[in-house]
Formats: sequence, structure tokens, C-alpha cells
Amino acid sequence: MTDIDLSQTGESRPLYIPVILGTVRKGRMSEHPARLMTAEVAKRPMVETELIDIAHLPLPVDDAGQAIKDPEFASKMMRADALVIVSPEYNHGYSGLLKHVLDSCLKEYIHKAVGIVGVSGGTFGGTRGIQDLLPVMRELGLVTIFWDVNFANVYNLFASDGTLLDETMLARIDQFLKELIWMAQTLRYGREHIGLE
Ligand SMILES: Cc1cc2nc3c(=O)[nH]c(=O)nc-3n(C[C@H](O)[C@H](O)[C@H](O)COP(=O)(O)O)c2cc1C
Repeated sequence: MTDIDLSQTGESRPLYIPVILGTVRKGRMSEHPARLMTAEVAKRPMVETELIDIAHLPLPVDDAGQAIKDPEFASKMMRADALVIVSPEYNHGYSGLLKHVLDSCLKEYIHKAVGIVGVSGGTFGGTRGIQDLLPVMRELGLVTIFWDVNFANVYNLFASDGTLLDETMLARIDQFLKELIWMAQTLRYGREHIGLE
């Protein structure tokens, strides 16, 4: 891994890039990719991360949008320079509760980078859900990168203790994170130095 040279932007503050685990399903396999992604982000110099598990958020279903904003989640979104969203494929789409959580914030996301990690039991690695999430990201003000990570056939990719069984995934994750960190740095510079009339 080549270290990102943060001195190019004169930046001395670490980036904050949390990983959102986008399902509450009991027995969810997406937890393994989410934990792996969090560990991989944590290895990057000058980057802080944490796993945000939507199963641990208050998720009222008698209202929607910013009316159900959770202050702690919102403050993490405000602090974030980029997001990694782990998106399981459910019936060729994304998780409804992931969308419900994302809808609870708006201004917090604007001009922040986002990368999506698809997870599926089948061979497409969550691609169909990712494609459907892209216009949602745009409406939220997030800026998508052009790399995804796809965990296809996920039941064969991890041991029951969460150990990754296919190390070829790591090269893809590395490319994805390099791009995400570049975009996060660039957008932070833009937010802080370039005005918008
Ligand atoms: C309601 C539901 C729908 C699903 N639909 C698909 C699907 O369309 N394509 C697919 O490859 N896997 C599908 N799966 C399997 C999941 O993609 C698989 O369990 C994967 O690990 C991600 O979800 P999980 O984190 O809940 O396990 C579905 C699973 C559930 C619970």
C-alpha cells in the first residue's frame, strides 16, 4: 500500500471515514465484510474510522426522514469526510432499513465522498443494489467514487469467525480505499477553501 501524502494539502487532521453496516437482519453475513472494511480503513495513515451498525440505532418506523434524526448518528455524519456503505442485496435491491437510516440526515452529507460495498448470496456481489443506491447518494449530496467492492457468494468468502477466505479481495479493497481517501481529501479541501456562490 502506498501511503497517501496528506502534506500535499497541508492537512494535519485525520480524515474520519465510518463504515455503515446496512442491515439489521439476524444472522446477516454483511457483518463480516463490514468488520473487514473497518479494519482495512483503520490501517490507513491519518484516517479514523468506526463501524456504525444500523441495528444499534433507534429506528422509529412511525415516521421518516429528518423527523427521526438521531443526534448521535447525525453528528457522526456531520463529522464524516467520507462514508463506506455496506449494502446487502435483498430481492435485487438494497435494504429498506438502510435507506430509512440514510434518509434521516441531509445537510450532513453534502460534498462528502461515498463508496459502496455490495454483499450478496448470489454471483452479482450486490451490484444491482449498488446501482439503485447511486441516484439516492446523489440526491443526498454525497459524491460517489467509481470503484465498488463486491462480495459475491459471500457465504463462501468468510469462515464463521469472520476470517476472509479469499485474499484476492484485498487488492480490490485497496484500490477502493485509495480512491475514496483521495476523494475525501479533495472534497474536504473544497468544502473548507472553495466558496459556492
Ligand atoms: C429478503 C432477502 C432477499 C434476498 N435477495 C437476494 C437477491 O436478490 N440476490 C442475491 O444474490 N441474494 C439475495 N439474498 C441473500 C443476501 O444477499 C445474503 O444473505 C447476503 O449475505 C447479504 O445479506 P445479509 O447480510 O442479510 O446476509 C437475499 C436475502 C434476503 C434476506
